[in-house]
Amino acid sequence: MTTRPARTKLGTIGPTTSALGLGCMGMSDLYGPADETESIATLRAALDAGVTLLDTGDFYGMGHNELLIHDALRGRDRADVQISVKFGAQRGPDSSWLGYDASPAATKTALAYTLRRLRTDYIDIYRPARLDPNVPIEETVGAIADLVKAGYVRHIGLSEVGADTLRRAAAAHPISDLQIEYSLISRSLEHEVLPTARELGIGITAYGVLSRGLLSGHWTNDRAIGATDFRGFSPRFQGDNLTHNLNLVEALRTIAEAKGVSVAQVAIAWVASRGEDIVPLVGARRRDRLAEALGALDVTLTQADLDAIEAAVPAGAAAGDRYAAAQMAHLDSEH
Ligand SMILES: NC(=O)c1ccc[n+]([C@@H]2O[C@H](COP(=O)([O-])OP(=O)(O)OC[C@H]3O[C@@H](n4cnc5c(N)ncnc54)[C@H](OP(=O)(O)O)[C@@H]3O)[C@@H](O)[C@H]2O)c1
Repeated sequence: MTTRPARTKLGTIGPTTSALGLGCMGMSDLYGPADETESIATLRAALDAGVTLLDTGDFYGMGHNELLIHDALRGRDRADVQISVKFGAQRGPDSSWLGYDASPAATKTALAYTLRRLRTDYIDIYRPARLDPNVPIEETVGAIADLVKAGYVRHIGLSEVGADTLRRAAAAHPISDLQIEYSLISRSLEHEVLPTARELGIGITAYGVLSRGLLSGHWTNDRAIGATDFRGFSPRFQGDNLTHNLNLVEALRTIAEAKGVSVAQVAIAWVASRGEDIVPLVGARRRDRLAEALGALDVTLTQADLDAIEAAVPAGAAAGDRYAAAQMAHLDSEH
């Protein structure tokens, strides 16, 4: 395997981005408290290191994540960055999750608020966070297509949708990329979704490449998880499942140490090795973690390495689903 180029074109029609993107969610939500000063420093360090793709959602901290990105981009050239924004997840003032709304009116309203928070006049990639079961995908894509025509959005993306929805969406308007979980222990997309995306010329922005920290090599059995931390509800982080999954990590550690790299770097490099149409989004929220993640771009996995990784963590090796049952139900990609 050769080292990947520093930049990647997302699908046939998408923008050219850095080979690794920065996912900003954990800076505002879902993984317990984050340090705002360190978050901004991490964002700026990523931009300085050549990362151009920033992924966010309007519901990450109910606008907080977009405001943070706006702060980090002060004094930068907007044209040097691609901002990917998810919308549709509805939330209450107590941070509760109220379902999804990707109707045309909600889509356009959400974009209007996003543009104000980011103080920008366009979004590079705009995508519904989930398929809204009450709205045909053609209507959601049609609404974003209106925003593309009006110049407010450059590209349309999707998130966690299955092959049929991909086809229907792509028939309505060209789609740049599908954002979907992809890691050594989350490979269900390989059966149908990934081949369909490739057939349609749709790129992949892969999230959860470290399985939300589980595969990072830094997670321990005794780590305290806060009441609002996603990982407190994730089946893979519970009891015997966690013990089993951390044993997989130790098997990976042996391979990483033999190569003189870290577990996280092997996990990220493995996702990157799945194809040049795949851009891993890493969820670093501290500069040290970012530096480690960026180091993965210099890791070349030989066929012998890939074979060893496959033996250590074969497909389906994880204990526990990637989401709790209630959230799995929202994944069109898993139906
Ligand atoms: N489309 C969707 O449905 C969806 C869903 C989830 C996420 N996303 C997007 O994808 C992005 C990435 O997802 P994710 O945050 O779940 O993925 P991840 O990269 O698998 O996990 C990130 C977490 O791993 C831990 N970590 C340990 N070492 C790290 C290292 N070297 N680099 C980065 N993280 C390290 C950090 O936890 P600690 O800081 O607690 O140690 C960090 O918060 C999100 O920020 C979001 O933009 C999309």
